Amino acid sequence: MAVRTAVIPAAGMGTRFLPATRATPKELLPIYDTPAIQFVIDEATAAGIERVIIVTSRAKPSIENYASSANTEKVAVSVVYQDSPLGLGHAVSCARDAVGNEPFVVMLPDEIMGDASLTKQLVALYEKSGKTSIGLKKVPASEVSSYGNVEIAGRTDVSPSDSAVAITRVIEKPKPNEAVSDLVIIGRYVLAPSVFDHLATIKPSANGEFQLTDALALLANDNQLLGIVSDITRYDTGTPMGLLRAVIEIALGRKDIGPQLQTWLENKFQN
Ligand code: G1P
Repeated sequence: MAVRTAVIPAAGMGTRFLPATRATPKELLPIYDTPAIQFVIDEATAAGIERVIIVTSRAKPSIENYASSANTEKVAVSVVYQDSPLGLGHAVSCARDAVGNEPFVVMLPDEIMGDASLTKQLVALYEKSGKTSIGLKKVPASEVSSYGNVEIAGRTDVSPSDSAVAITRVIEKPKPNEAVSDLVIIGRYVLAPSVFDHLATIKPSANGEFQLTDALALLANDNQLLGIVSDITRYDTGTPMGLLRAVIEIALGRKDIGPQLQTWLENKFQN
C-alpha cells in the first residue's frame, strides 16, 4: 500500500529552549527565515507525502495557526492533540484516527535532514516489503545511550553507506554495558498500521512514558522490522547549540545569503 501520510510529533514543551519557548514553540523557531517544522513538511512533500498530521499540545496554538498556513495544493496539513505528555509512543497513537488503517511516516522535527533521500528510501523499502522500516545511523559507542539501539541479523559491521538490514532486537537508550551494537534509530520511521495495535498493548517505561521503541521491539520479535543505515546529513536541532549549528550550516549552503555570511564569518575570524 502506498505511503501518503506523515505524522510529526510536536507536543513537547521545549524546556531546553527557555526562555524562547515562552513565546514560540520550538518547532517554529527559525532556521534563518524559515520555521524548523517547515523543513520537515518540505521533506515529507519531496518524498511524495500528501497529508501531514502534526501532533501538538493545546498550549501551543501557534502550531495550529502555522499548520493552516502550511497547506498547499501538494500537501494538506492538519493537527491533532496530545493532551498529556506521555511520550513518543503515546503521541503517535494520538494520530490513530486521523491516519486510519494505512502505513505512515513518523518524522521527528528535532532532526532536520539535508534532503528527503532517507524518507524516500524508507517509503520505497516499506512499499516493497510491507514491513515497518526505520532510519538508522552508526554512532560512536559513547553516543549509543542517547538513542534507540538496534541489533541486526547476521551483520555486525554495516558500512555507513545506505543499506537495508533486518532488525532482530531494539532497546531504548541502553546503559553503555547493555548496548547491542553501534547502530541507533534516527528520527524517520515508516510504520505499518499494525503499530497502533502494538502501541495499545505496551506498558509505560520507568519514566512513565510510552516508548515507540517498545512497539518496534514487538515488530522485531515477529521479524517485521527493517532498517536503512544512512549517512545522510542530519542536524540535531533538539538543543540550542544544535539549532545554532543548523542555522549557520543551512544559511551557508543557501545561494542567496551563503556567500555574504561566509565573507562576514571570514572577516570576523581574521580580525
Ligand atoms: C527518540 C526515540 C529514540 C530515537 C531518537 C532519535 O528519543 O525514543 O529511540 O533514537 O528519538 O532522535 P528522544 O530523542 O525523543 O528522547
